[in-house]
Amino acid sequence: MTAPSHDATTDQVTHWSDIPGWFHWREGQQDAVATFPEGSTFVEVGCYLGRSLCSLADVVAGSGRDYTVIGIDTCQGSGAEGRANEDAHGAAVDEGGGTFAGLLHRNLIACGVADDVHLLVSSSPRAADLFADGSLTWVHLDARHDYDSVVTDIEAWAPKVRPGGWLSGDDYDDLCWPGVVRAVTDRLPDAHGWLTAQWRWLKPA
Ligand SMILES: C[S@@+](CC[C@H](N)C(=O)[O-])C[C@H]1O[C@@H](n2cnc3c(N)ncnc32)[C@H](O)[C@@H]1O
Repeated sequence: MTAPSHDATTDQVTHWSDIPGWFHWREGQQDAVATFPEGSTFVEVGCYLGRSLCSLADVVAGSGRDYTVIGIDTCQGSGAEGRANEDAHGAAVDEGGGTFAGLLHRNLIACGVADDVHLLVSSSPRAADLFADGSLTWVHLDARHDYDSVVTDIEAWAPKVRPGGWLSGDDYDDLCWPGVVRAVTDRLPDAHGWLTAQWRWLKPA
């Protein structure tokens, strides 16, 4: 996977598709809005500069219904990872003096969704502690992709999803991200591939 350029300034961003990132599965977000009723809460863990999060906010706004959208990120990047041992977020972290929180927030503002999204600067498992079990409709995991991190994320967030809700994640790709596939297979044997290189677990009702 080639890292996208991180250097889109706020001036250049007016739409989620202007934001650097890897997100390409908007139909999954549309599926969530079509499936779940108004009042549901959607959480994205791992937002980077907000490409997928701003798309989700846009899909929600287009539905004309009220959902709660929460994005969670340390804003300190994932560090070096993957087959190329690449630090894909490092330049954005450096640009912000150790955090890209400002860039992320500015992109939400530039896309006109800052009032519709709750941004939580936090590590994934610590953030999960803030939510009651069974309180979230859909949690999408796209934070660090090594085996242990994905296991930690699954263990932290699976209890938070309500019966009938979804826990899903990015980079379900055995070649590029074998740790993701192994962690999902070990911890959620009922999960399955979803869309392009995503996985999804439907919590039993
Ligand atoms: C692959 S990027 C997310 C891309 C984004 N979903 C998109 O498609 O535009 C992964 C993000 O996870 C964040 N991250 C890594 N480990 C984390 C953790 N333990 N808790 C919260 N965020 C984390 C990084 O800071 C980075 O922004």
